[in-house]
Amino acid sequence: MNTLPRRCLIAPSLLAGNHARLADSALRAQRAGADWLHVDVMDGHFVPNLTFGPETVAALSREPGFTLPMDVHLMLDNPSRHVEAFLKAGSAGITVHVEPNDDIEGCLDKIRKAGARSGLALNPATPLEAVWEWLPMCDLVLCMTVNPGFGGQAFQPEVLQKVRELDEIRRRQGMHFLIEVDGGVDESNAALCWDAGVDVLVAGTSLYRQHDMAAAVDRMRRSWRNATKLAEDSRQTL
Ligand code: DX5
Ligand code: ZN
Repeated sequence: MNTLPRRCLIAPSLLAGNHARLADSALRAQRAGADWLHVDVMDGHFVPNLTFGPETVAALSREPGFTLPMDVHLMLDNPSRHVEAFLKAGSAGITVHVEPNDDIEGCLDKIRKAGARSGLALNPATPLEAVWEWLPMCDLVLCMTVNPGFGGQAFQPEVLQKVRELDEIRRRQGMHFLIEVDGGVDESNAALCWDAGVDVLVAGTSLYRQHDMAAAVDRMRRSWRNATKLAEDSRQTL
């Protein structure tokens, strides 16, 4: 367990919202008490699906009353070509994947220099070693808990071992990046995630399918508090 007090952030994924009513779906997440809005950008090459472009992010950032920071997840073969447009569009954070053969350092540098949160993502099959050299440039590391491309897939619990190792490295090296998980996250595994060291939960289907999203966000937060409490109790009894 991380000994520092950790924030618990919940980021509903717009992919699971109503694509004919994106602003309503974004505002729904805000009204439910979410911390960020997760926006999945897919290019049909790196992943076999297509979704949003920078204009979607720009339009949402102009939407009256919508204030949630947008956590933009680029699932692209060539993120370096698009980072700037997503920064201009108003992204609060941008995460690029480590797998494509692209200028990762240039992307992370550009994102940070623009004052946004720089993120690096890795797929379930990608070993942690692949991101080591970039960690000092990361404000966030995203451990995918499904193969990216589609919502509604089953959570892969074995990824939590990677999260534990990453949390360990973060503490040993005195680093401050956030750890995020994305894919199949719901109330049944939120506590496990937090217990492994996760700070940010991305949840699409499990939140948007609820009639009362606010209650679902609240239950996720509660399960985090219980996980933290259990960890504290077991420390005290040692
Ligand atoms: C998958 C996306 C996720 C997706 C998660 O490629 O990166 O953000 O929206 O959806 P759920 O929570 O339904 O697995
Ligand atoms: Zn995502």
